[in-house]
Amino acid sequence: MDVKVTTQSCKNIDVQALAIPVFKDEKPTEGLLKMLDEAMGGLISSVIASEEFAAKEGETAYFHLSGKTLNARRLLLIGCGERDEYKARQVAQMAGTAARFLRSKSAKTIAVVPRVEGDAERAAQTVVEGAIMGLFEPDKYRTREKEERELERIEVVVEGADTKPLQRAVERGRIVGESVNFTRDLANEPGGYMTPTILAERAKEVAKKFGLAVDVLDQKRMEKLGMGSLLGVSRGSDEPPKLIVLKYEPAKANKQAKGELLALVGKGITFDSGGISLKPGENMELMKYDMTGAATVIGCMRAIAQLKPAIPVLGLAPCSENLPSGKATKPGDILRAMTGKTIEVINTDAEGRLVLADAIAYAKKLGATQIIDMATLTGAVSIALGDVNTAILGTDQILIEGVIAAGREVGERFWQLPLDKEYSNQIKSDIADIKNVGGKKAGTITAAAFLKEFADDTSWAHLDIAGTAWGDPATPYRAKGPTGIAVRTLIEFVERSARQTAS
Ligand code: BES
Ligand code: ZN
Ligand code: ZN
Repeated sequence: MDVKVTTQSCKNIDVQALAIPVFKDEKPTEGLLKMLDEAMGGLISSVIASEEFAAKEGETAYFHLSGKTLNARRLLLIGCGERDEYKARQVAQMAGTAARFLRSKSAKTIAVVPRVEGDAERAAQTVVEGAIMGLFEPDKYRTREKEERELERIEVVVEGADTKPLQRAVERGRIVGESVNFTRDLANEPGGYMTPTILAERAKEVAKKFGLAVDVLDQKRMEKLGMGSLLGVSRGSDEPPKLIVLKYEPAKANKQAKGELLALVGKGITFDSGGISLKPGENMELMKYDMTGAATVIGCMRAIAQLKPAIPVLGLAPCSENLPSGKATKPGDILRAMTGKTIEVINTDAEGRLVLADAIAYAKKLGATQIIDMATLTGAVSIALGDVNTAILGTDQILIEGVIAAGREVGERFWQLPLDKEYSNQIKSDIADIKNVGGKKAGTITAAAFLKEFADDTSWAHLDIAGTAWGDPATPYRAKGPTGIAVRTLIEFVERSARQTAS
C-alpha cells in the first residue's frame, strides 16, 4: 500500500473516498465541514440534525456523492467524541476506522483528514499507523470469506503545508504500522506453526532483511551458560528452546550514550499448556499468544533497524514451549538459574518468569545497562487493569515514567503498580533461594518481584501485557485478535532516548 501526504484542498484530491473526523456537538457552520456541507447540498447538516449521527467515538455516517464540487465520490464521517479529548489514541482509532470501513466498501484509494491542531508531522504519522493497524486481518488460514479487498493508497491531507517533512513522517508511520502488524502476525500463529525454532528463523529473516546482528543460542550453549531456569521450562517439550538475540548498532552513536545499552527482552512461550500444572481446557487455545513479548521485541527491532536512532539496542527473546511429559519439570523441583540463584518451582504454569530470569541475566552479561522486559505474564493483571491499561513495574522510576510518557505520545496506556520490597517476602522459599509463585495476593506484583531478583541493580522496567495483547471483541478500528500493544510505545521510547542523549 502506498502512503502519501497531500497538501491539496479536500475538494480536489484524486481519491475514491474521503474520511473526515467529526466531533460531538459540532455543526457544519465553519471551515472544512461547512465547505463539505455546502458541496453536498446540506447533507451533513441534515444527518447531524436527524440525530442519526451524534459523532460519538466509533460512529460513522457514509455517503455517495453526486455533482461536481468534490473529486471524491464517497464521503465517510467518523465520530471522534469530544474535541478536547481528541488525542493520539483517538486519531489512530479514527484512521483505523476509516481504513477498515472504506476497505469493506471496496474503496481502493482514500484520503484522511487528521483535523489535529498542533504537530502536523506527528498527526500524519499517527494517521498512517492507525490506518495500517486498522487493516490487519488475522485470517491467514481461512480459505473462504477471507478479506480479499485491499486498499492501494492512503493519502493524509494537510492543506497548504510543506510536504517534505510530512512525507518523512508518513513514511515513519508506515514503518511503525507495518512493524506492529508484523508482531501481530507472529502472535497470531498457532503453536504448531510457531515453535521456538520457527520464531528464531523469523527473527533471522528480519535481521537479514533490515541489517541487524543476530545470534540464536541453542540448548547446548544455554547448558554451557548454566541457564537452568530457561531449560527447566523447555524440558517437557520435544521442541528445542532458543534464545534469540538481535542487535541494532547505529552507524554513528551519540557520544553521551557511550557505555549505555538498552535491552528489550520479551517472553517467548510459543505455547503455554501450563506444563505438569496443566491449565484448564477452556480458552487454552489462546495460549499460542504467550510469545507476544518475543514478537513485540522482534517487531520493535524491525522498526528500529529502519528508523536508525543514534543509540544501540539489544533485543532478546527466550523461546520455549511449556508442555507436560515424562521429562517435564515437576512442582517441587528446583532449578538453578544462570546467576546461580536457586528456584523452587511451585507451579510449572508460572514459566514466563523462569525463561525471563535467564534472558535478563544474559542481557546484563551482554552489557545491558537498562532493561525493559515485556511478557504475557499473569492472568492477575487482567483482574487488576482489564484490557485498558498495561501494567508497568520496575526499579527505575525515571525509566518507568519515560515509558509511560512515550505511551502517552502514541496513545497507549500504562499504569504503574507498586513494587515495595515487602512483596518479595511472598516469593521466599523454604528450601531454595526463591520460589516461582507468590500466592494468591498481588499476582502481577509478585511475578515482577521474581524478575527483580535477576534485574538486580540494573535499571529495569517490566510490562505485563497479558491483559492488553489480545483484543476481543473486534472494534470498528481493530479486528479481533492480537493488538500489537507496546510496539509503538517502545519504538517511541527508543527514539526519544536517542534524541535525549543527542541534546
Ligand atoms: N501465560 C500465562 C499468563 C496469561 C494468562 C497470559 C492469561 C494471558 C492470558 C502465565 O504463564 C501463567 O500461566 N501465569 C499463571 C501464574 C500463576 C500460576 C502464579 C497465572 O497467571 O495464572
Ligand atoms: Zn503459564
Ligand atoms: Zn505463560
